[in-house]
Amino acid sequence: MASIKKIGVFTSGGDAPGMNACVRAVVRTAIYLGKEVVGIHQGYQGMIDKKFINMDARSVRNIIQLGGTVLKTARCAEFRTAEGREKAYKNLVEEGIDALVPIGGDGTFTGAELLSGEFGIPVVCIPGTIDNDLYGSDFTLGYDTATNTVIEAIDKIRDTAASHDRLFFVEVMGRDSGCIALHAGVAGGAEAILLPEKETAIDDLIHKLEEGALSKKSSSIVIIAEGDKNGGAYNVAKRVKEKFNFYDIKVTILGHLQRGGTPSSFDRVLGSRMGYAAVRAIIAGETRKMVGLRGNMIQLTPLEDAIHNHSFKLEEDLLEMATILSI
Ligand code: F6P
Repeated sequence: MASIKKIGVFTSGGDAPGMNACVRAVVRTAIYLGKEVVGIHQGYQGMIDKKFINMDARSVRNIIQLGGTVLKTARCAEFRTAEGREKAYKNLVEEGIDALVPIGGDGTFTGAELLSGEFGIPVVCIPGTIDNDLYGSDFTLGYDTATNTVIEAIDKIRDTAASHDRLFFVEVMGRDSGCIALHAGVAGGAEAILLPEKETAIDDLIHKLEEGALSKKSSSIVIIAEGDKNGGAYNVAKRVKEKFNFYDIKVTILGHLQRGGTPSSFDRVLGSRMGYAAVRAIIAGETRKMVGLRGNMIQLTPLEDAIHNHSFKLEEDLLEMATILSI
């Protein structure tokens, strides 16, 4: 295989705190190892629209502490077509980019896998999504910060819930993964946690809330993952309201605020480690792999395994513990 000269780095799909620390690591590691680096703005869309920017060590200064992504991001429908990918690849060749480090979630990986399969360009991907739902890494970039943001919000909601004797349903992100909900629920002391990975009957939830009210709880917080099968916090609140009248009921949808903000120390270190490892791996000849962290060790996983096994594996013991600790 010809040696790599110019690496393209981009962020794609939902932004996640820690992506900038990761971009910084990719750029500086590549430059240190004598390679050129191009930042591709707006992910696959930017590849199609030729949004290429030459990066140097100084172009990534003062970004390690920033949330969002300085490379911008997008969800690109055109890249899902063979024509879109061909156009993107031609642009990469024209620009002299001969390897890619994509940062994103399973949609980003699927695009990278297709592009690499069709045109042979080496790719080493980095898991950047708050959802923490990728096989091959104990943590994805942004999950730690997002969960801390959720906990901060729950703490604030608890103040007002306790002051008014209210029951709050708080909906959190995660798409079809309940990882943020479960961990924020445990850390926030929620009375119940509704997850996509486990069905919760509304009558059982009401029963649990009634038990709490009868044992002198004066307020309660229920965390609902957006992918829960009961149809979201508003629907659950409506159905609970029909039968439960111990407290006044309110709903908070945390939404996109969960994706923003200063990355935690954990996400900055994770982003740095993953960016550094991805560049080393691609230069060493690896391709169609995802860099992950397993047991605090950087490991590579075949991209197709990361894509096809993508989901959060529910920690049943944690859910059981949360139920017991919230009696
Ligand atoms: O994948 C990250 C994520 O924030 C999910 O948790 C959420 O379902 C989705 O992205 C929202 O996407 P968008 O910002 O495109 O609405």
